Amino acid sequence: MDKPSHDSADYNEALFETIADDIANSGYSIRPNALPQALLEQLASYVHTIPIADFKKAGVGRDGAHQLNQLVRSDNICWIDGDHAAGAAWLEWLEALRVFLNRRLFLGLFSSESHFAHYGPGDYYQKHSDAFKGQANRLLSMVVYLNSEWRVEDGGELLIYKAEETRASIKVTPSFGTIVVFLSEDFPHEVLPARRGRFSIATWFRLNKAS
Ligand code: OGA
Ligand code: MN
Repeated sequence: MDKPSHDSADYNEALFETIADDIANSGYSIRPNALPQALLEQLASYVHTIPIADFKKAGVGRDGAHQLNQLVRSDNICWIDGDHAAGAAWLEWLEALRVFLNRRLFLGLFSSESHFAHYGPGDYYQKHSDAFKGQANRLLSMVVYLNSEWRVEDGGELLIYKAEETRASIKVTPSFGTIVVFLSEDFPHEVLPARRGRFSIATWFRLNKAS
């Protein structure tokens, strides 16, 4: 059988299967050049049309305590809704992934939230967890990168720490189309300072727990 093309339903099905297998086996999935090409290009061109003023200082919160803390992170974010075709296409793809993961892994993912992030030169995000044991309703984190031709000297890598390790064991280059998914409670991570503009989409899949 022919290999499914990047934008077919079969391609998504195979990709979702791979992500589900990776999560079941190791709790995380890192897949370069994975996001369907048409969606990737749509998102990448859209993000460059968003006025930089629409990107806001991101907050760092716990238990809903939302606060600005620019020592921890210095990037700017813009939440994604379905008002624009690219945002709508992205939310639709996310929904298909959510439904697939629930069916395949019985994760009980209830909803998702998603934002673009922009790191200018020098921006970073220090080591943090996206969720805290016992109280979190963020179960799964996902990051997708929208940067073509990212070079080693551009920095901005995502470092992922395995449980109890003080040194990061996984380093991800934020290259065009790379998808990273991990269990939110299990993998602290950080973003090293970028040396050129760095665009990504961060997403969290939530359980339906009242917090
Ligand atoms: C986050 C995050 C990682 C990245 O937004 O919580 O960890 O590589 N992002 O952009
Ligand atoms: Mn994070």
